[in-house]
Amino acid sequence: MTSTPPGHAAPPAADASAEALRAAIAGTLLAGRERTRLLTDAVDDADLVRQHSPLMSPLVWDLAHIANQEELWLLRAVGGREPMHPEIDPLYDAFEHPRAKRPALPLLAPAEARAYAHEVRGRVLDVLEAVRFTGEPLVSGGFAFGMVAQHEQQHDETMLATHQLRTGAAVLSAPPPAAAPPDAARLPAEVLVPGGPFTMGTSAEPWALDNERPAHTVHVPAFYLDTTPVTNAAYQEFIADGGYADPRWWTTGGWAHRQQAGLEAPLFWRPEGAGWVRRRFGVTEPVPPAEPVLHVCFHEAQAYARWAGRRLPTEAEWEKAARFDPAAGRTRRFPWGDAEPAPDLANLGQRYLQPAPAGSYPAGAAPCGARQLIGDVWEWTSSDFLPYPGFRAWPYREYSEVFFGPEYKVLRGGSFAVGPVACRATFRNWDYPIRRQIFAGFRTARDAGPAARPTG
Ligand SMILES: [Fe+2]
Repeated sequence: MTSTPPGHAAPPAADASAEALRAAIAGTLLAGRERTRLLTDAVDDADLVRQHSPLMSPLVWDLAHIANQEELWLLRAVGGREPMHPEIDPLYDAFEHPRAKRPALPLLAPAEARAYAHEVRGRVLDVLEAVRFTGEPLVSGGFAFGMVAQHEQQHDETMLATHQLRTGAAVLSAPPPAAAPPDAARLPAEVLVPGGPFTMGTSAEPWALDNERPAHTVHVPAFYLDTTPVTNAAYQEFIADGGYADPRWWTTGGWAHRQQAGLEAPLFWRPEGAGWVRRRFGVTEPVPPAEPVLHVCFHEAQAYARWAGRRLPTEAEWEKAARFDPAAGRTRRFPWGDAEPAPDLANLGQRYLQPAPAGSYPAGAAPCGARQLIGDVWEWTSSDFLPYPGFRAWPYREYSEVFFGPEYKVLRGGSFAVGPVACRATFRNWDYPIRRQIFAGFRTARDAGPAARPTG
């Protein structure tokens, strides 16, 4: 097994020995907890219990909810332990209380939430020492541990979104990502993804969630996809061309929402002088032209694509571009191959607090030539969140099944804010088409049409 840098603890290969699996799980749990601690220690207690937006929970709720889920799955379900504080379970059940109502609950105070999380983790490490990864499907391949580790890293992303919504002085900082590589300016605007069948989803990833399963064959006609996510510079052309004022580019529902919500630019942007500035984690700065656009909703992405004479890719198109290797005729785990994410391949794990310039990460390019499919920004697709053929809810219906339907649109690829363990080329995120606080951008596509008939 190759070594992985901090924050990049990897899910194990399916045949990893029990000891290697134990070490990988411990490392992954630790990486998530270090980030959780940083995000919750960065503000004072008053800030932790405050609700910074009705869209988000107070940070102290996330903290105790992470611990409560860890207790439910790893101590009770896997370890067979008695509940530690059964009376608090309902407070931290995401289905019992919508986010807007959570500040009014008798939540654990910051010190109590930290102590609870610490105590749960200590006991989990005891369970991990003793567990056998065979027999029960819940522990096979370390699944429950992987699920809990992903859950914490997903909440680390949610908590980072809360930080972005929070007003006041900056409390988080990170170095900027490197400038784009020299060839970025010479990249073709779009790449061709050849038509034909490919294997979508997975039956082999040990920590894949139910909605990514099972692997199945999908026929995708040839199409062109943007080489990189749409940049701020390109998006500003849409704004300057009156894109927000022209209903031709919007769907009926999208236009109604644009008017009702008063959308005129991405969230956190405002005009200044001849250009735009944005607020990013408490700092106001000029909008960087080469960076992928961020904090746009599905409707804005859809309108931009139509204005550009293009469309959003379907989820199947996105996954084929990201995984299919036409030369080998097989579907990869990641765009670059089967190796785990690493810092030279993708911008993940909150190493930077922004996307890298378009054209970055040549080593992480897909066989079709598209870059930054993993990391940087979540990418809106045109697809509703639906089950794959053969879907089975696992380990509980509320993970995915209750969300299936046309209400939610699928996002793919992860963002700079996602931990590597919660980001696979098969990973499916979903959200309402009006949401903008998430770290989402997009890229566009067009049909390639039937292949030209050979002449001669
Ligand atoms: Fe959760």
